[in-house]
Amino acid sequence: MSTKAIIETHELTKIYNGQAAVDQLTFIVNEGEIFGFLGPNGAGKTTTLLMLLGLTEPTSGKARVLGLDPTRDPIKVKSRIGYLQENMGFYPDLNARQMLRFVGELNGVTGSAAETRIESALQTVGLFEEIGKKIGAYSRGMRQRLGIAELLIKDSKVAFLDEPTLGLDPDATNRMIELIQSLARDQHMTILLSSHMLQQVQKICHRIGIMIKGKMVVQGPIDQLAQEKFGVGKEKYSLEQIYMKYFQEA
Ligand SMILES: Nc1ncnc2c1ncn2[C@@H]1O[C@H](COP(=O)(O)OP(=O)(O)OP(=O)(O)O)[C@@H](O)[C@H]1O
Ligand SMILES: [Mg+2]
Repeated sequence: MSTKAIIETHELTKIYNGQAAVDQLTFIVNEGEIFGFLGPNGAGKTTTLLMLLGLTEPTSGKARVLGLDPTRDPIKVKSRIGYLQENMGFYPDLNARQMLRFVGELNGVTGSAAETRIESALQTVGLFEEIGKKIGAYSRGMRQRLGIAELLIKDSKVAFLDEPTLGLDPDATNRMIELIQSLARDQHMTILLSSHMLQQVQKICHRIGIMIKGKMVVQGPIDQLAQEKFGVGKEKYSLEQIYMKYFQEA
């Protein structure tokens, strides 16, 4: 893993109705890293992602993704980042192949190159058997995996995954987590992963940050946080215990 910063914020702030949803947030995610972006409901995680995508403007502070300013270059930033939203909306009447062709066209991938990439992406996410099924008939887990296939078609180097395992059964959750791990390992994607599934996050994240009331109260490798809070390595404590400790102290 390199130490080239792919995602960077400096004192990034978003005020809604006089209240800071994101409060002077400073953090970095390096190339090839899976960064676990944790925190309770309403902490400001999604708001941060929206600012990094150029979908909402910061009140103050700085954000850079792949060296670009999302406020000044929103179209470029959006085209390069894969974004899996909390609730993915797709066209229900299209099947997976048609939907991914459309994504390909928007991103300049067409013809036989597109077909090859579509089939390989659907193989990777385990949806190849469902290639002709209408998306409206997909289960939640299938839709989430289709969202990942979309990132592969776009060939995104950076992915923001907002609750990718929300509503998935235990087996589907584990498969999604393994899939995310393979995106970093095999596709060299840099991943910002927001999730409440701490047991799974613990398995794949290189570093985590805990956001509470708009502020990042701590960030680092899980090992280091276990050391700081409990004076022992992570094998003795779960991420959930570490998280709860920071949460209670905040
Ligand atoms: N468009 C908006 N207008 C006003 N307030 C907003 C808006 N979007 C978010 N907020 C507020 O900003 C704060 C942070 O919300 P955000 O959705 O970023 O939290 P989150 O960390 O993603 O939470 P969760 O884990 O529940 O998804 C909350 O207090 C929320 O009510
Ligand atoms: Mg959220």
